[in-house]
Amino acid sequence: MTKQEAIAQISKDIREHTCSLRAGCIQAVPGDGSPDSEIVFIGEGPGKVEDEQGRPFVGPAGKVLDKLLLSIGMQRSDVYITNVVKCRPPENRDPSPSEVAEHAEFLAHELELIKPKLIVLLGRHALHWFLPNEQIGKVRGRAKRQGDKIFFPVYHPAAVLHNPPLMKDLQEDFNKIPVLLKKIDELPPVAANVESDVAQSTLFEIK
Ligand code: URA
Repeated sequence: MTKQEAIAQISKDIREHTCSLRAGCIQAVPGDGSPDSEIVFIGEGPGKVEDEQGRPFVGPAGKVLDKLLLSIGMQRSDVYITNVVKCRPPENRDPSPSEVAEHAEFLAHELELIKPKLIVLLGRHALHWFLPNEQIGKVRGRAKRQGDKIFFPVYHPAAVLHNPPLMKDLQEDFNKIPVLLKKIDELPPVAANVESDVAQSTLFEIK
């Protein structure tokens, strides 16, 4: 099976799965974009428009994300965009830890196949799934290597809709992404056995 076929299979599995959120939403929303992308963006979960259209980040927060991507010379089709939960929680409430856990295997599988150089965590839900002890306000705009993954937490694009001045921070953080991708190529490889060893993780900042 090619990578494209494997991702298409995950998307099908996501569309057909059952979970505790599934009965309350119109449809499950799989990831979208290029399986060959070196960068994956992870949001929280589908909102109303995503639930209606079956694609991630196509509503108001998606417009902000599109604008940020374009500002760094990227398009949606160049990158892969997904969410921690694939089904819209009722009334857009926060997903519970157990709901996130129910979808974790899909996300793990997506990352395993794509093997991105950089994982951009959009907001605190994506941050807390991978780095539960961190606070978004403290770690945003700083990349963290943990095992074979490099995370880059930023504010969620929807935060700008409620608090427009945050766009400055978000833009500043997105501006670091192209630099970070280059810098990652220069990093020494990590040993396979540091997978979950937080003590050996490296926090580095890109000016
Ligand atoms: N917010 C998210 O976190 N994900 C989406 O897909 C849309 C809005």
